[in-house]
Formats: sequence, structure tokens, C-alpha cells
Amino acid sequence: YGTSAINEAGHLEIGGCDTVELAKKYGTPLYVYDVALIRERARGFKETFDRLNVKAQVAYASKAFSSIAMVQLAAEEGLSLDVVSAGELYTALAAGFPTEKIHFHGNNKSEEELKMALEHKVGCIVVDNFSELSLLEEVCSEQKTQMSVLLRVTPGIEAHTHDYILTGQEDSKFGFDLQNGQAEKALLAAADSPWIDLLGIHCHIGSQIFDTTGFVLAAEKIMEKLNEWSKKHHFEPKVLNLGGGFGIRYTAEDDPIPPARYVEEIITKVKEESIRYGLEMPEIWIEPGRSLVGDSGTTLYEAGSQKDVPNVRKYIAVDGGMNDNIRPALYDAKYEAVLANRANDPKEELVSIAGKCCESGDMLIWDIHLPQVQKGDLLAVFCTGAYGYSMANNYNRIPRPPVVFVENGRDVLVVRRESLKDIIHLDMPLNANAGNYS
Ligand code: LLP
Repeated sequence: YGTSAINEAGHLEIGGCDTVELAKKYGTPLYVYDVALIRERARGFKETFDRLNVKAQVAYASKAFSSIAMVQLAAEEGLSLDVVSAGELYTALAAGFPTEKIHFHGNNKSEEELKMALEHKVGCIVVDNFSELSLLEEVCSEQKTQMSVLLRVTPGIEAHTHDYILTGQEDSKFGFDLQNGQAEKALLAAADSPWIDLLGIHCHIGSQIFDTTGFVLAAEKIMEKLNEWSKKHHFEPKVLNLGGGFGIRYTAEDDPIPPARYVEEIITKVKEESIRYGLEMPEIWIEPGRSLVGDSGTTLYEAGSQKDVPNVRKYIAVDGGMNDNIRPALYDAKYEAVLANRANDPKEELVSIAGKCCESGDMLIWDIHLPQVQKGDLLAVFCTGAYGYSMANNYNRIPRPPVVFVENGRDVLVVRRESLKDIIHLDMPLNANAGNYS
């Protein structure tokens, strides 16, 4: 993975930093991000568009991992930014991200969120449904401001991934249905409004998708409608945003295609269809999250207690778990790991890695071959860069781990560890009894 290597001491090294040293310096659990790998992924997408000579925007879907430093890194790499809430927008503002390159998503944006987006002049709002369309019009007319808009459509595609992260199928909470006339109605309403500058169409079919079929099919269906709409309503979009969702390799069993291939095939399809229908080739926007940051993240844990269930399995508990990575419990997601302090030792034992929460489902990895694990060993779980920290929680009042960026032998703390004080900082006492703590 990226700049990972094993050094002379037999320790796992990332970005030229020894993970054993990182664990000593910052404690565990600890998220470590390989910054060079994020840059490589971002450049990979951009180079593909350049090579194919297509006008594009690559927006980082910040839901995958949002923090001020991460947003600043996205800005350094010339990415646009997809935000889905006031919180993600606020983070972008705090990071000094160019607001004209922010795309605001979400299926239930509040009036406050829309006002905030307008006030800060975000690049566009991705409108999801009719209530939002009228709310946006109201807010825009109140503030006498025009807003650029993409309409999110649901093309009726069943991509093959986990049900919870499927979004393009007909029965979805997201978007205007493309097939039953909803999208066309939305288009006419938006085109009619003096407050809306209709840039184009958006669609996102799901996440962790391993092949291009769904994307190509979605592009085909949308282009067919665009042809119809250009003839009927003289509408030609400037932008076609095909979302994110490009799958990554979590374990050896996963077999994703290289990220550039998704982009190539999408572009080829849209070009073909544009020529066929005599339409102007739109700008192609994408908004990957996982494929930009997923494999750049590694979580370091310290091994603690062990429990042997004779003839069944051996549990190795670590000092984190579903608090910092809920994906195994939520989606049955699979991960690979190594002993970072003894990375060259033979893997002679089959064990299962448990978290420390009071819940049997708090397992990080079922059945993994590792060297004989001792208390105090350092476990590195790979590919935790997307939807790890961003879905972290304080269940059992466990503080969230810090995040460190590593690059060229340098480590930088970009999110500090939560303290026990942080854990109670929102609590309002019921009476004046002060406990004895500090
Ligand atoms: N655009 C839209 C409109 C989205 O809804 C998403 C993800 C993305 C882009 C970025 O998708 P990506 O490239 O990261 O696959 N928590 C789940 C993933 C939820 C994805 C939600 N939407 C997980 O941990 O697998």
C-alpha cells in the first residue's frame, strides 16, 4: 500500500515514519494517513481527464474523512469539495477552501444550511427533491441571489454493493426519478426560476462499486433523457456529474479496476452518446471519497487481553474497535492487518481481532493469520482512511483517536486525541454535586 514498507528493525513504516515510533509518540489507537498516496490518487484522476482532453472537476467527497488539514490537502491538490452538511461546510470554511469550488449535497438540507451556502457563495447546490427546490427558491429570492444548481437524478440502476450504500435504484431516498417524469418536471421548474442557474445533472449510483457497468448504464440513461430534453425543451447541460463510488481493495479478495478506468469508460460513453445525439459534450464532474483516501489510512492499535475458546477461536482484543471503525459491525466489512512491530515474523496463528466495546458485534477482523500476538504488540489495520474517523463515535464514552499525516519521513498531528474532559464537555449537571476528578 502506497509508501508502506518494512524497515530494518522489522517495523512497518509509512511515509518514511516508523509506526512503532508513531505509536510511542501519539499513543494508540492512532489513524495514520499516507499523504503521498492521497496526492497520487488525486493526480491520477486529474491526469486521466487531462489525457482525454475533457473539461472536468474532481471533487473530494469530504464525508469520507473531513478535517481542516484534509480539506487543505484537497485544496493543495486542486480538487473541488463535496460537502453534505453545515458541519462539513464549516470545516471547509475554517480550512480556507475556495468556496466557489464547493458543491453542497444532501437530501434534506435545512433552511439554515441553504442560507449558509448562499452567504458563502458555494459553487453549486445539488438539489435532491421538490421541497428543496422550492425552499432554495424562497431563500434565493429573499436574499436576491442567484444560485448554480445541479439536479440529482435517480437513474434506476442496481449497482452490486452492500444494500445500505446503494443509492441509484428506483426505490431510493435520493434524487428525482429519471424514468417517471419527476426529473423532467424538476428541470422545467428549475429552468423557469429566475433564481436558479441550472448547470446540469448529477447522479450517484452507490459506493464501493467494482466495475464500470453501472456507471456506463447510468450515463447512457441520462444521455438518452438529455437528448429528449434538448429537443423538447432546448435544455443542454453544461455539467454532468456522475458522483463517486469507485471501489478500492480492502483485502486480497477484492478486485477493483484502477480508478482511471472508471473515468475512461464514463467519458467514452458520454462522448459516444453526445456524438450520436448531436449534443455538446458536457463537462464531466466526479466526486470520489473512498478512492481518494481509503487506502491511504492505517489504524494502529495496541494488543491487550486475549481469550481462548478451545477448539473454536482465539480472541485478541485491541484498544479500539467499533468506536474508530464501525464498518465491520455495520456492513460486515473486511480488513487486512499486520503486526507492525514484528512485520517479518512468520504468521503462525489464526486469531480474531476484537474491539473493546461492550457489544459482541464489536469485532474488527474475524480469522486472520498473524504471528503469536503478545500483549503490547502493535497491530496495523489497513485501508481505514475512508469512513473510519468520519464515522467514529463515543459509544461507551471512549475518546476518539488522533489523526497523523505522514509524508517524506515527517509526521504532523492534524486531529488531536479526544480527552476525558472532551467526553463530558457538552454535559449539563443536574445539581451542584461536583465529583472528585480533574
Ligand atoms: N457522492 C455522493 C452523492 C455520495 O453519496 C457519496 C457517498 C459519494 C459521492 C462518495 O462515495 P465514495 O467515492 O466514497 O464511495 N459509509 C459507507 C459509505 C457511504 C457512502 C455515502 N455516499 C461506508 O463506510 O462504506
